[in-house]
Amino acid sequence: MDIKSIVAQMTLEEKAALCSGKNFWHLETPERLGIPSVMVSDGPCGIRKQADKSDHMGFNASVPATSYPTGSCMACSFDRDLFKDQGVTLGNACQAEELSVLLGPAVNIKRSPLCGRNFEYLSEDPYLTGELAKNYIDGVQSQDIGVSIKHYAANSQEYHRMSNDSIVDERTLREIYLPAFETAVKESKPWTVMCSYNKINGTFAAENKYLLTDILRDEWGFDGYVVSDWGATTADRVKCLEAGMDLEMPGKNLSNDKQLVDAVNNGTMDVAVLDTACERILDVVMRYVDKRRPDTVIDFEADHLKAQKIAEESMVLLKNDGILPLKKDQKVAFIGKFAEVPRFQGGGSSHVNAYKVTGALEAAADLNVTYAMGYDTNTAEPDEALLAEAAETAKAADVAVVFVGITDALESEGFDRSTLAMPKNHEALVKAVAAVQPNTVVVVMCGGCITMPWINDVKGVLYAYLGGEAVGPATVNLLYGDANPSGKLAETFPLQLEDNPSYLYYLGDEQDKTEYREGVFVGYRYYDKKKMNVLFPFGHGLSYTTFEYSDLTLDKTAMKDTDTLTVSVKVKNTGAVKGKEIVQLYVGMPESKTIRPDKELRGFEKVELEPGEEKTVSFQLSKRAFAYFKTDINDWYVESGKYIILAGKSSREIVCTAEVQVESTTVLKKIYTMNSTMGEIMANPVGAQFIGQMMAQSPLAAAASDSEDSLGMGQAMIEMMNGMPLRTMVAFAGGMIPKEVIDGLLAQLNA
Ligand code: BGC
Repeated sequence: MDIKSIVAQMTLEEKAALCSGKNFWHLETPERLGIPSVMVSDGPCGIRKQADKSDHMGFNASVPATSYPTGSCMACSFDRDLFKDQGVTLGNACQAEELSVLLGPAVNIKRSPLCGRNFEYLSEDPYLTGELAKNYIDGVQSQDIGVSIKHYAANSQEYHRMSNDSIVDERTLREIYLPAFETAVKESKPWTVMCSYNKINGTFAAENKYLLTDILRDEWGFDGYVVSDWGATTADRVKCLEAGMDLEMPGKNLSNDKQLVDAVNNGTMDVAVLDTACERILDVVMRYVDKRRPDTVIDFEADHLKAQKIAEESMVLLKNDGILPLKKDQKVAFIGKFAEVPRFQGGGSSHVNAYKVTGALEAAADLNVTYAMGYDTNTAEPDEALLAEAAETAKAADVAVVFVGITDALESEGFDRSTLAMPKNHEALVKAVAAVQPNTVVVVMCGGCITMPWINDVKGVLYAYLGGEAVGPATVNLLYGDANPSGKLAETFPLQLEDNPSYLYYLGDEQDKTEYREGVFVGYRYYDKKKMNVLFPFGHGLSYTTFEYSDLTLDKTAMKDTDTLTVSVKVKNTGAVKGKEIVQLYVGMPESKTIRPDKELRGFEKVELEPGEEKTVSFQLSKRAFAYFKTDINDWYVESGKYIILAGKSSREIVCTAEVQVESTTVLKKIYTMNSTMGEIMANPVGAQFIGQMMAQSPLAAAASDSEDSLGMGQAMIEMMNGMPLRTMVAFAGGMIPKEVIDGLLAQLNA
């Protein structure tokens, strides 16, 4: 279909109408020209198709759908194929439900563990987030369904999410908050991008031409439509459209359509801007319409099993003092309401009407398991009778497994958490059980991280996160060793909230400005640099087997930044059972002259090994793996020098390292000014010669040599002078060096 000719046949009113929804979920297409209206739905971890009453917070019912583990859980799988496969299944379900676009993945970076929506987001690390999102998108879009990667950008808190202004410096934006979007757009071509509610550096995302057009389209080559988050369109619809925000959702705000019509009629907006937006929207609509498969069926039972497999690949075994796996002949007490009624998904727009939910107690029906409720999920207050019953049940068993976490009321889209602590009654339950049962294991169900004041009182911790509708069988399989844990944390668990780098500035000031003052030092980038102890580091996760790494090999020891480095490392399963290991590859530049994290994740692979089996895992590292974003050249830049390549089982358990010399091919033009330091001038041969001559005649030189003679201060004097600006040569030379001479030097240096 020739989209341009369709747009040419549309009236001005039809064009304006196309740029906002027909209602909450449908687009207002020019049906008289043969383009059917299409529907979009949330995402990301299941389908939330509201066939009846609509809302963007998940209050009203939606059609039954498979509830998969949420983003924070699934990211711990570090498994690209799993994401792709889930994407295919979701795309298929969208075909069956006649949805043109699935509103996900949600790829905002976990800046603070308090963010109420962290359960939906993937990681604190942009590389991991980008890699996983890319595969999700490839999967969904392989089914001729679009995604809407969201929320673009720097939307890392729920507090005042619709008004807050994220103040983020350019380098931090480029290195931390944009790369997941960048990777996805460049490599997977999402059909749509959803702009966020917040402002970024003073401009609402919906009006942000820099983000929506200059970066997204002109730099990264985005060719779909940008949709507003539901209600993110500002009062100035024309400004939004001109910035590149094509589709306003939800519809139908007639006054905003009228703004567009009026702006064209009174000549303040070129109709070409409207035409372009219409072309983008229709193009994406037709990608779906042309390949619709409404006769597609959803196999809910198969998808339930898929949700279980994803959960098994994702949950993280954080601690195991030999207590796990449990044995089937042991008498085990499951304690805590979450064993019976699991917490398996988050609240808000991602909330799906799960097809069926299986809890751990139900999944363990054939095992030697007893149960005590332990707490009431409607309150945070400990109940002494429930605690006493729990202790009794625990004492009577060989092992107690306590199911605790964060309740729905405390963790959802729309508001932030106020603490990392679990509710008091959950904390009390762990303590009460551990006090009477030395063999205590804790299963935690929540969307983000928590503090664990009881960590030394228990022998095992399995972090289930929000494991989707099949959380029960997945948990039981992992506890009993029918599945071997292989997830690793995609976020750092700090010892206390106050350790988090954003802690001092997180909620912003009274003007609703949130300054991202920690800059690029987000998550492990910060804790590493500060050499701080953490509860569990990024990348940590245990298995029922053990792995050994050896022979970290680089295919070269010196390279240009335009070359690709191939890194390989051998990994062996040295235990008795089959298992999967996530090999993590970090890169650092210990002697960098720039303020940089000690190391950054630049590669990962998940590898399955039989007992005794060894495999070689390979990685390709190209320019971006070594680069930082240099704002004065507005580009990625590799500083010449020695880089360290680190292979690890976690960010804190690095097992092999190697070095490579990388040479920059970017020629930086240095501009010298009166404020350049003597050190900088001396680094240039022309400057060095000049300053040498001048210094020989200067009173400063005499002072330097005097102090060297009398006080041994010569070196200190040189250091001091190195840091002084060139202009001081005029000021301190007592008239001996006229300004014109320095001007002449600068002209020579800058020639
Ligand atoms: C959320 C989006 C969601 C939209 C539609 C908004 O409140 O931020 O993630 O896609 O609602 O439900």
